[in-house]
Amino acid sequence: MRQVNIGLLGCGTVGQGFVRLIERERERIRVRDGVDLRVRRILVRDIQKERTGIDRSLLTTNAIEVIDDCDLLVELIGGVHSAGAYVRRALRDGRDVVTANKALLAESGRELFAAASASGARIGFEASVCGGIPIIRAIERGLAGDSIESLTGILNGTCNYILTRMEERGLDFATALRLAQDRGFAEADSTLDVTGMDALQKLQILAELAFGSSHVRTKVHGIDDISRQEIEQARSRRCVVRHVATARRLPGGAELRVERRELPESHPLASVRDENNAVIIRAKAVGEMLFVGKGAGSLPTAAAVLSDVIEISRAEARVYTGENLT
Ligand code: NAP
Ligand code: HSE
Repeated sequence: MRQVNIGLLGCGTVGQGFVRLIERERERIRVRDGVDLRVRRILVRDIQKERTGIDRSLLTTNAIEVIDDCDLLVELIGGVHSAGAYVRRALRDGRDVVTANKALLAESGRELFAAASASGARIGFEASVCGGIPIIRAIERGLAGDSIESLTGILNGTCNYILTRMEERGLDFATALRLAQDRGFAEADSTLDVTGMDALQKLQILAELAFGSSHVRTKVHGIDDISRQEIEQARSRRCVVRHVATARRLPGGAELRVERRELPESHPLASVRDENNAVIIRAKAVGEMLFVGKGAGSLPTAAAVLSDVIEISRAEARVYTGENLT
């Protein structure tokens, strides 16, 4: 049994979910994957803050202690400055990193992957796009044999939560945003969500994986100026308003758009509610596929983080033997 010591940066919405999920799943992971996952230290800003069920003795404000004393670093603090410095330090020393930080990857992804490649470290980032939906694995591995032509989806849980609460409960924008923040869906700086920047960062990651193109045209429009009237008018036409991200392959490049769109009630994205996300992938051989699920929130996102940790930690790839079927 291989013990893997995890250094955890951040113990907020996702970090606390991650610690709880490891506790809950530890024995199953030991048996299934042959690794014993241990959270060794946890970096926070405020040690006195109430964190139900978290062992206070693991908390520290000393980042270096967390990074230099782990086998694998899980970065869940968000933002680009401190998070970037800590991730670079870990990669430089050859430590594997798992992150849910799309802002950091969208800004410095190439540089970080080059650093990882130079030191032999790996980076897991499934949780950075669409929370619990395994969309990164689907594009990177499941669809490796096909050519993706376009991606269309709802990539921000906060915006979708706001739009559906305004539509179904008659809430105003500010109240719906506050509820999304209370439930832990929004970014620390919620303007990233409502201006469309968070969705654009996620779309950039998906487009890079799907098309690998460097000549990219982008257009982004948020939901921060939406009114109840706009939603009511859409409803009177049997339509709903959704914040839709689209990436299309173009000759020699790609076009990325994030905008709100009025969709007929029968559209597959129209039935996506609350903090759920969805992605429609169109590929040349397979045609159209729809992925739907929780795009934000503590445990769904933690599950994606944990699956990266397991994949990086286990000594060998799992081989399907079919032995439990008979
Ligand atoms: P959060 O609730 O705000 O938690 C952030 C944690 O990091 C807190 O524990 C905070 O410490 C700590 N922290 C922040 N800056 C720090 C610094 N400079 N030094 C030390 N500790 C610091 O954030 P979150 O919602 O868990 O999000 C974490 C990451 O996951 C972000 O990159 C976010 O984009 C991504 N993500 C979030 C979700 C979601 O549903 N929330 C879904 C997918 C991806 P204190 O507690 O002491 O303040
Ligand atoms: N703030 C993000 C959202 C978290 O609402 O989608 C998940 O990436």
